Amino acid sequence: MRFGRFDDDAREYVISRPDTPLPWINYLGSEDYFGIISNTAGGYSFYRDARLRRLTRYRYNNAPLDLGGRYVYLRDDESGQYWSPSWQPVQRELEDYQCRHGLGYTVIGSRFARIRAEVLYLVPLGETLELWRVRVTNERDTPASLSLYGTVEFCLWDANDDATNFQRNYSIGEVEVADGVIYHKTEYRERRDHFAWFASSEPGAGFDTQRDAFTGPYRGWDRPLAVERGACANSIASGWQPIGAHHVRLALSPGETRDIVFALGYWENPADAKFDPPGSPAIDRRQVAPVIARYLRDGAVAEAFQQLRDHWRSLLETLQVDTGNEHVDRMVNTWNAYQCMVTFNLSRSASLFESGIGRGMGFRDSNQDLLGFVHMIPGRARDRILDLAATQLPTGGAYHQYQPLTKRGNDAVGTGFNDDPLWLVLAVGAYLKETGDQGILEEPVAYDNASGTETPLYEHLQRSIEYTLQRTGPHGLPLIGRADWNDCLNLNSDSETPGESFQTAPYRETGVAESVFIAGLFVLAAGDMAQIAARRGDAGEADRCRVAATSMRRAVDEHGWDGDWFRRAYERTGAAVGSAGNAEGRIFVEPQGMCVMAGIGLEDGRAERALGAVREHLATPHGIMLHQPAYTRFRAGLGEITSYPPGYKENGGIFCHTNPWVMIAETILGHGDAAVDYYLRTCPSARETISELHRCEPYVHAQMIAGRDAPSYGEAKNSWLTGTAAWNFVAVTQWILGVRPEHDGLRIDPRLPADWGDVRVTRKFRGTTFRIRIHKAQGVTGNVTHLSVDGHAIPGNLMPLPAVAGGEAAVEAWVE
Ligand code: GLC
Ligand code: GLC
Repeated sequence: MRFGRFDDDAREYVISRPDTPLPWINYLGSEDYFGIISNTAGGYSFYRDARLRRLTRYRYNNAPLDLGGRYVYLRDDESGQYWSPSWQPVQRELEDYQCRHGLGYTVIGSRFARIRAEVLYLVPLGETLELWRVRVTNERDTPASLSLYGTVEFCLWDANDDATNFQRNYSIGEVEVADGVIYHKTEYRERRDHFAWFASSEPGAGFDTQRDAFTGPYRGWDRPLAVERGACANSIASGWQPIGAHHVRLALSPGETRDIVFALGYWENPADAKFDPPGSPAIDRRQVAPVIARYLRDGAVAEAFQQLRDHWRSLLETLQVDTGNEHVDRMVNTWNAYQCMVTFNLSRSASLFESGIGRGMGFRDSNQDLLGFVHMIPGRARDRILDLAATQLPTGGAYHQYQPLTKRGNDAVGTGFNDDPLWLVLAVGAYLKETGDQGILEEPVAYDNASGTETPLYEHLQRSIEYTLQRTGPHGLPLIGRADWNDCLNLNSDSETPGESFQTAPYRETGVAESVFIAGLFVLAAGDMAQIAARRGDAGEADRCRVAATSMRRAVDEHGWDGDWFRRAYERTGAAVGSAGNAEGRIFVEPQGMCVMAGIGLEDGRAERALGAVREHLATPHGIMLHQPAYTRFRAGLGEITSYPPGYKENGGIFCHTNPWVMIAETILGHGDAAVDYYLRTCPSARETISELHRCEPYVHAQMIAGRDAPSYGEAKNSWLTGTAAWNFVAVTQWILGVRPEHDGLRIDPRLPADWGDVRVTRKFRGTTFRIRIHKAQGVTGNVTHLSVDGHAIPGNLMPLPAVAGGEAAVEAWVE
């Protein structure tokens, strides 16, 4: 069952009923000011940090799930009937509700009592504010007298404190109303120099800033008294819950349409110019006033909207495809790329599943996210790499997370996830292949942000490699430390204390517990490092990496192979994890994908066998499960993985992040059909028709789909902020379509499924626009046999860089 449809030309997902299985969200903002917005206008906004600078309040885990938002109300002043054009919060049945989630904007509209209302929400580029353009049309043949309300509930900045510290917070709320603008200025009187403002383009009939005055006592946002009776109380909040509510009266003749704009913004004043007059409690509005005025004038929203659309078009133009498969096309051309940008902007901070107060930015997560956006925003990717590297420790290890505002490593989660440093090598490798900017390797970067410790970035990569080499166990495999990619495989902690976080529980390095997954990752990263070193003229380092990779392969050959698949790890007791002898956790997906990606087992058939085992034991119609059988009992020696009920999350869930590794592995073995088959199993667009089961948004990947052992098998959770986005993008564009940036050019090495025909790819790469046409007859599954650029045949399948960048190159490739 569907709840909407893709509008591929408009690059929108169009939701046609408000009661989607879960709130289906979108993101506003792309630089400093962000918000999440659901299909019924729920969500919140923040400036830079979703925890520390939260503008508006949202109640996670509410009933209904989605409460707190950018709510608009309409009231028919003749009948007294009122409704919300976004359905929530009033929930009055609407005539033809529609929500269009687009790139960086959302439009929600409906018709009720022959009044059409449509609200466009967006954040103008470069601004710290959001606009809501409410377009109201009277479709009656009689005049209409209406009341329109725009409302927000302010958060007292620190979202965590706001949700807990009521003894203080009920006394500190402060607002100011001047020239029709509501200013939220809690704590501005003391150490804050920022405030929020909420304005309306129309002269107001009234306002409220105290929540209870607007909603009425013992009432909620679903039936506010001020709306019911058609008049606000002009309340000035003092303590309790400051809100912003504007009331506007509209008299519309038959057929008339009017646009009314509500704007919400964040502003910082210079610390020495906070008050006007100085010494008074009144905000100095002289800097913010022109900004507010600019966005309330006619046409400002349309202009900002156009700029936003142009911005997204130019980002996405970097890579566009025409494969004939609608799911692949719309994911690659629009939604998967968009999701990758959202992971760049938001990391893991704010979604329906990430509260915005929890996690910092993950070291491994951010390095992997980069693989999905580096081609669109190479400059910002460069900055991100340097930020990440500056949190690396002198040992080469990494803080598992860092805080976006301070850019410092986060002591609370600490270190010891032994895969972390290797992802930096992959990220830098991807950046170099995309941009050719070798200069980044020479950038001085500190360790643990301590000034004076700077070395060239290159040395950070060397230390990453070294970190693994210095931490190997009895089988010569890398020690797992606190955990590896699988955060929940905690082989060294033995947590038995209820409620203790597995991620921070004390752990002891006993020098025994090893990870075959890190071994595979190491071989992959060492290969990248050898290339990087060789290009930098450091033949010694290149050799060292190749030798180290070879001996790591040998360790995997000898101790990482179980007979039919790669083992997962060794416990502290020396027992194998992911081995046929185990009753539970006999086979895991991660090492199968990663080892084959690293090229292990290609010559001797083990790669084929490993992927065959994945198909036999782990693949389901809903995707590939993390392991089987799921753990049915808690085992402290294995850690958090056994804490989840079977089939969820790391305990045998379909942890989607890992699926693209298997897809890539399949393409390496030449199996384009298998790769696309797996791709479509978890692809949100391909699952659109089972939305009642999948439940998450059909336009973005989810972290997890419940595995076969779970009662809700097939149900997705944790959509949006997941490494699944970047890895799917890499798998489908670089390995299935095979258009792969390399240091010396663009590789064209597709592995297309038999039933596909010709494929077109437009790829901007190092300043040149490559227009690639892959000729392929249906039924064929081969490789590229010959290739030409601008009519000239070239040997092999690596397109060299044109002598002069900036132009276009027409590429023809034949698959036979
Ligand atoms: C989450 C984490 C990621 C980890 C994965 C598997 O997605 O963000 O870092 O690798 O879970 O545990
Ligand atoms: C990872 C896992 C998650 C776990 C979290 C913290 O993000 O995906 O299952 O709860 O780490 O332990």
